[in-house]
Amino acid sequence: MILELIDGKKISAEIKDELKAEVEELKKQGKEACLAVVLVGDDPASAVYVKNKKKACEYIGVKSLSYELPASTSETELLELIDRLNKDDSVNGILVQLPLPSQIDENKVIRAIAPEKDVDGFHPQNVGALLIGEKGYVSCTPAGVIQLLKRSGVSIEGKECVVIGRSNIVGKPMGVLLLRENGTVTIAHSRTKDLKDICKRADILVAAVGKPKMITEEYIKEGAVVIDVGIHRMDNGKLCGDVDFDRVKDHVSKITPVPGGVGPMTIAMLMNNVVEAVR
Ligand code: GUN
Repeated sequence: MILELIDGKKISAEIKDELKAEVEELKKQGKEACLAVVLVGDDPASAVYVKNKKKACEYIGVKSLSYELPASTSETELLELIDRLNKDDSVNGILVQLPLPSQIDENKVIRAIAPEKDVDGFHPQNVGALLIGEKGYVSCTPAGVIQLLKRSGVSIEGKECVVIGRSNIVGKPMGVLLLRENGTVTIAHSRTKDLKDICKRADILVAAVGKPKMITEEYIKEGAVVIDVGIHRMDNGKLCGDVDFDRVKDHVSKITPVPGGVGPMTIAMLMNNVVEAVR
């Protein structure tokens, strides 16, 4: 089996360059893109994500407004800010980085963002639109996985697709997107019986479990395409995914590395949604 790495860094760079060109075109038509980025508290991982999102905005030529609020921010204060951003016509997209401090109800915040500015695709209206195949913003990580597959020549139609994980942000929308591409979809999770056997059926396996190196060769059909959504910091400081790369690599046809696979795609798809907001 010749192993092919699915290069998320390269594919995300291509997408960002396409978007950059489009943003220039939109500017000529007098349309400017602006993303409001809201960070509450001082979670170090969130700070890194937010920094990278703002950097991507700068690269493609989108203005970003930064709101860095203290961890003590009340729910009311945050909802007031969102209300102001909803009403501000110069703001196309609103991103509130999750997780939020415990005094703030995340669901309330997600519902407060105007669906047409919800570039994360988390609002129930956008989630519902995805389910019934209507226009709306799609959650960035699963949208990025579809782009990785398409742009590396993996056809989804008719394939056995197994998604491990059923979160609102990744697993569930991932299943719906694969279904939309005419895959035959199974969503497996922590209560699934005979998980290994089910995964072994997969032509395309998407791991979004949140457990370091859980997926070994015992879960893999020979020649499968494996997409690893997980990202974990190991004791030695290195990053790893939900998939044990070294154990599966001789059994797969294509696989995403960690880092450099799904990670960079999430931001590229966020930028796509921001440009969509202006289109
Ligand atoms: N926290 C972890 N992933 C995400 C994401 O995609 N969007 C937001 N807003 N917060 C996150």
